[in-house]
Amino acid sequence: MTQDELKVLVGRAALDHVVPGSVVGVGTGSTVNCFIDALATMKDRIAGAVSSSVKSTERLQAAGIPVLDSNTVERIPVYIDGADEIDHAGFMIKGGGAALTREKIVADLAERFVCIADESKLVQVLGRFPLPVEVIPMAAAQITRRFKALGGEAQLRAGVITDNGNQILDVRGLQISDPLGMEAEVNQWPGVVTVGLFGRHKAKVCLLGTAQGVRRIDF
Ligand code: 5RP
Repeated sequence: MTQDELKVLVGRAALDHVVPGSVVGVGTGSTVNCFIDALATMKDRIAGAVSSSVKSTERLQAAGIPVLDSNTVERIPVYIDGADEIDHAGFMIKGGGAALTREKIVADLAERFVCIADESKLVQVLGRFPLPVEVIPMAAAQITRRFKALGGEAQLRAGVITDNGNQILDVRGLQISDPLGMEAEVNQWPGVVTVGLFGRHKAKVCLLGTAQGVRRIDF
């Protein structure tokens, strides 16, 4: 199966995790696009969606799924999103699509994070995928220096402004053996809006697309 076919497979499998009658948290990315397409088939059985990006909002609305303001929703049972990397404990790197801040906000509203990914995303140690960090532009150089002190090379993602009007640094060369520790550290640096490490907001379940079908991993 191709990577795109695996994405369709896990996008459909995620429907089993949607709680009928409830609001669904929806992530961002090509895998989530497959999930949104599948969700359209049960749009009359959900109360709507909370979206993590302008792109996902547009796709949800085009599919006829109502998108609710996150501030009007107190709790959602499930948040479904992809990942750039996921390790064997459910910790993730996210933000390849620059939506990490809103993704973490919606994940924070959710009881369960269900990660959908093809098997290429499962890793032993996080960090081969450059770690995205959303930053306030005036802090970018200082945050770059801070990463250098940790052994990371941060580079501004050219031509990208997030939905929140900020910049993205992509940090290469990190071997993230302590995701919770690094998340807590980077979160304290002035000018960091969100680090794309999902430690406190890790996945509870991963639906991994493999050549043998969907493999479910519980964390
Ligand atoms: C967007 C994300 C995505 O979940 C991540 O980049 C995976 O995307 P894809 O499903 O296209 O591989 O974090 O900010």
